[in-house]
Amino acid sequence: MEQELKALLATALSEITAVSSEPSLEDFRLRYLGKKGLLTALSSKMREVPADQRSSVGALLNEARDGISSAIDQKKSALQAALDALQAAGLDITLPGRPLPTGGLHPMTQVLDRAVSILRRMGFALATGPEVETEWHCFDALNTPADHPARNESDTFYFSNGLLLRTHTSSVQVRTMQQQAPPVRIIAPGSAFRRDEIDATHLSAFNQLEGLYVAPNVSLADLKGTLSHFFRALFGPNTEIRFRPHFFPFTEPSYEVDVKLTPKGQAPRWVELLGCGMVDPAVFEAICNSRNDEVYHPDRVTGFAFGMGLERLAMLQWGIPDIRHLIENDVRFLSQFSA
Ligand code: DAH
Repeated sequence: MEQELKALLATALSEITAVSSEPSLEDFRLRYLGKKGLLTALSSKMREVPADQRSSVGALLNEARDGISSAIDQKKSALQAALDALQAAGLDITLPGRPLPTGGLHPMTQVLDRAVSILRRMGFALATGPEVETEWHCFDALNTPADHPARNESDTFYFSNGLLLRTHTSSVQVRTMQQQAPPVRIIAPGSAFRRDEIDATHLSAFNQLEGLYVAPNVSLADLKGTLSHFFRALFGPNTEIRFRPHFFPFTEPSYEVDVKLTPKGQAPRWVELLGCGMVDPAVFEAICNSRNDEVYHPDRVTGFAFGMGLERLAMLQWGIPDIRHLIENDVRFLSQFSA
């Protein structure tokens, strides 16, 4: 009993040094001196102490109780003194803290994440390619002739060494097929650059998402099914889409895809959202020549490709009237999109 009392006092005195707030001091008090406290538990054992030792053990018990009580009192005044000092210095730590502003994901990041996650669930893998490209990857391999207007100096940013800033992410199709044998099923989100005048619907640096699926017997039906599913997942299960014949040098046949959307408070209307088509055999021939093999021979594989502008997708999803909002980083605009 004597040993236990001494040990209890020693532990209590060392524990109290770590106590640094009123509530934890009260916890400490209850743990030792409370009705179910450690010291109280020990004192109830007094009955078992032989009569001749009772007075010395009793004295020790009082000593322990006084020791702990006065340590508590000292701590209490120390804590109060610290509080007073802070208050004197103009700091009141009992006031609730100022909330820290938390960030959110940029609307472009949100659109990109959604699009990528839908397409990844359909088996598309992520692919990347450089933003500084060769003319061959950006145009020639994609069956775009030297006199095509997109290749003009006034449309494309050229470097003096002949390289350029890619005008679309379609160049990643070429790089992927050079590196991997079929089947390939990839998406390539990334920046593209054009010498456009900046206005409410144009930026000179913007984002696209490219898709490519090449394997034996890929058909137009596969393309339609993929895109229908994609837009239903994005805009809701009843979303209607339509294919309008178009021309792209690297696909044949080619289409623009319109989606029927109902902007807030307006009548439904068809909105053009992407370009797509069946990979032109001329593209496969360019790939075969550069790979020096025949795995992409147009007799062996077919494929579909599509490309869409991501800013446009974000603008439609939220009814953003001006594309420039997306690059201005005005918190009054951006905070509307944080969850
Ligand atoms: N590269 C085209 C553009 O920037 C979009 C596009 C159209 C991509 C058709 C494709 C495609 O892959 O098949 O306007």
